[in-house]
Amino acid sequence: MGSMLRIAIVSANILLALFIFQNGFLLKRQEISATSSCSDAHAQPGETCWMSQQYNRTILILVDALRYDFLIPLDKPKSSESPEWFYQGQMKEVGKLIKSGKASIGTLLADPPTTTLQRLKALTTGTLPTFIDAGDNFSPDAAVNEDSFIYQAAQLGKNVTLFGDDTWLSLFPNKFSKSAAYDSFDINDLNSVDDKIAPKLEEEVKYSESSSIIIAHFLGVDHCGHKFGPSHPVMADTLRKMDRIISKTVESMKPTDLLIVIGDHGMTSTGDHGGESDNEIRAGILVHSKKHEIQLPKTSIHQIDIVPTISLLMGLPIPFSNLGTVIVEMFQRDLWEMAVGMNYEQVKRFAETYASQKNFGELHSHTARDSNTMEEQIKTMSRIQTLLRVAWTQFDDAYINVGLFSLIEAVFFLITNEEMSAGWIIYRTGCALLQAALLTDKTDSDGSARTMILMALAVSCLSSTISLAHRALRISLNSIVSARVIGKKKE
Ligand SMILES: *[C@@H]1O[C@H](CO)[C@@H](O)[C@H](O)[C@H]1NC(C)=O
Ligand SMILES: *[C@@H]1O[C@H](CO)[C@@H](O)[C@H](O)[C@H]1NC(C)=O
Repeated sequence: MGSMLRIAIVSANILLALFIFQNGFLLKRQEISATSSCSDAHAQPGETCWMSQQYNRTILILVDALRYDFLIPLDKPKSSESPEWFYQGQMKEVGKLIKSGKASIGTLLADPPTTTLQRLKALTTGTLPTFIDAGDNFSPDAAVNEDSFIYQAAQLGKNVTLFGDDTWLSLFPNKFSKSAAYDSFDINDLNSVDDKIAPKLEEEVKYSESSSIIIAHFLGVDHCGHKFGPSHPVMADTLRKMDRIISKTVESMKPTDLLIVIGDHGMTSTGDHGGESDNEIRAGILVHSKKHEIQLPKTSIHQIDIVPTISLLMGLPIPFSNLGTVIVEMFQRDLWEMAVGMNYEQVKRFAETYASQKNFGELHSHTARDSNTMEEQIKTMSRIQTLLRVAWTQFDDAYINVGLFSLIEAVFFLITNEEMSAGWIIYRTGCALLQAALLTDKTDSDGSARTMILMALAVSCLSSTISLAHRALRISLNSIVSARVIGKKKE
């Protein structure tokens, strides 16, 4: 009976210690399921929803692993020995578009982990990643529960067409009015998906008017990276093929269409991705429209900034949990203030909701004061984004320490093999309750629960040490005594 109780209590202690420990490691972003609606913002005069639709269609070409430097129209390196030979300056048609000023390119910064599933979520919801999700890359039913521009488009009765990777269908079940999606897990198969979707994209762009958003996800560059790395003749072929697809799309586009070509992440010099090195987080972006000449900013754009930009340009509400900032350069000058204002109100709405629903009081200092000028609003959004990025991606040392110390203490307690007295039961139960309290009250902002646990644990460790020392002393005394006894017997 006593030993059962002992095992039960110590097991509880160890389990709680492990939970506390993991709490320090896992990223803690919690999803908010609220969605934006047309009535959330004061609509532009004469509009029923936030802002008037600027383009009839947005064509979003997602080139998996399109690193920023693949797009830059540099001259080919002099020597075929150089590693850049196979990927620099391969996209000739794109180069012509850029040089003639018809298209503009920039750098799109992805948040790590740079895995495709995480990037697709960020690119549609405007949120930052959670670490637990990194394992979900292969889980079949990873439907996006948060608000996204795809949900918003479907909600407003606008058609969204998808060509490409079937991951999209599991992320957004029943949200696409038309789709041609294929399995993408065979990285040895470089071309079959791309070859199937390229003619479909061309046909859709040329002849169909029914979709407001067309998404085409090409996989060849990523698969080639995984198989051969970027410095390989096959990469040159694949990039030239993407170049043809992009220039064909540009030719087929109507004057009221907007083309956005982006990479979801980059790749290392060996063709891998997932981490946070410069080459992995720097993806490329290209925009083109016949209606307006767009000049992207020279500074890096955050990947999630795509989300509010596409939303407002297409006359949709910005997704509720978005943290991105509109790329004003993609709007006409007279719309900048309005776009930023709507974006600011939305980010503020999200921050206030997150602060109150998830006990994250630090956000209030940023939402309490109203920012009135465009510059201030952009700064406030960026501060909120930074605060949450840091909070969601930092390891929490306090939790890790308490968890580790709790674990050591429990093990220490086990090896002392002390009798379970009533006092000990009360003490250990108390410890477990304190640990549980620390787990449920995640904020513990003044750290009182942590301090109390650490003090209690220290006392217990001290007591275990004394008891161990006591036992060791007793054993050695006993052996001395028995040695004497044996010695005496021999005499
Ligand atoms: C764009 O959409 C409007 C309204 O739906 C339509 O009248 C117009 O013809 C479209 N323009 C083009 C070029 O498709
Ligand atoms: C959406 O697509 C369907 C058929 O695919 C079409 O009947 C409908 O008119 C489209 N809706 C819009 C808003 O274009």
